[in-house]
Amino acid sequence: MKSGKSNYRTIWLDENDPSVVKIIDQEKLPFLIDTIELRSVDDVYAAIEDMKLRGAPLIGAAGGFGMYLATLEMNSQTEVWDHLSNAARYLKSCRPTAANLAWAVDRVLESSRHGHSVKEISESALSSALEICEIEKENSRQIGLHGLRLIEKLSIEKKGEPVNILTHCNAGWLACIEYGTATAPIYMAHEKGIPLHVWVDETRPRNQGARLTAWELGQAGVPHTIIPDNAGGHLMQHKKVDMVIVGCDRATRTGDIANKIGTYLKALAAFDNNVPFYAALPSSSIDFALTDGLSQIVVEERNPDEVTSVTGYADGMIRQVRICPENSRAANFGFDVTPARLVTGLITEKGICRASENDIKEMFSDKFIK
Ligand code: MRU
Repeated sequence: MKSGKSNYRTIWLDENDPSVVKIIDQEKLPFLIDTIELRSVDDVYAAIEDMKLRGAPLIGAAGGFGMYLATLEMNSQTEVWDHLSNAARYLKSCRPTAANLAWAVDRVLESSRHGHSVKEISESALSSALEICEIEKENSRQIGLHGLRLIEKLSIEKKGEPVNILTHCNAGWLACIEYGTATAPIYMAHEKGIPLHVWVDETRPRNQGARLTAWELGQAGVPHTIIPDNAGGHLMQHKKVDMVIVGCDRATRTGDIANKIGTYLKALAAFDNNVPFYAALPSSSIDFALTDGLSQIVVEERNPDEVTSVTGYADGMIRQVRICPENSRAANFGFDVTPARLVTGLITEKGICRASENDIKEMFSDKFIK
């Protein structure tokens, strides 16, 4: 994606050294644009865990590259399958909620079976990791094209008045490879000249909305306003939101969606105010084995320090400051589950469907586990 004069992807192989994977350091955005080099499975694990990269599709892509880097740690004495299965288990344990991580890691692991020598296994792993990036890029583009139809329809209904879209957290290109999931229809509508405006939830505790989504939208020239997480209900009551589009970290085959903490409250408010609530997601975020999000999706709990402090920019430096009494306890649930009954529809790479087992099955019959 374009930022100023530069064209960025979120993850790529170093063109001068194929043993190095590079990423944008999202911990520093929007204050500084910096890149990090990942040279080992441990580097990938740490980058995902510390959220130097984040967002379900990007976590998946990084997991894929992590498996490739695992193959570079092998030599002729290595017990190949022990080594790769351990690396896969280790990477998958890093952030449990995003379905894409296991999807991508398993895909690269499986592709490695085609190699007979260490070199061949590495080559297969690399081409599989690169393919995952291409798949996710195309998935996002398709999500954009399908979601665009919804925005076009609203724009016609509003007779060209700006369409107001509310989004939560960052399901933009920074969370993916390009375009984003929730933002893909927004970028496409903006490029087509459809007047729109985005309400950006700041998204505590790490403020991915205020820091990342606002930055992305600003770079693309999309009109937007950052709001505190609690403002959405008020705006919906006053007819200032025409639709909600959020991303998704793991969906069930029945249409429940896990997304950044706070998403459920937006869905409740949308339901109460008849505001359409869509989740945009590639099929790599659907866990076709799950039938009930509330009881079956593992919600990651993160370090409470993310709640008791905020990170910002002052005096030319990125700083973290405490915002509460020193001894107060804090809890940091990373995600919540929005039940299918509150979701108007799923915007996927294959089209838009209702959040129901039948509709998901019709769209993804090839992936359905009986
Ligand atoms: O904890 P994060 O930043 O990895 O959370 C991911 C998100 O930003 C969202 O939940 C997003 O909507 C899903 S990923 C496209």
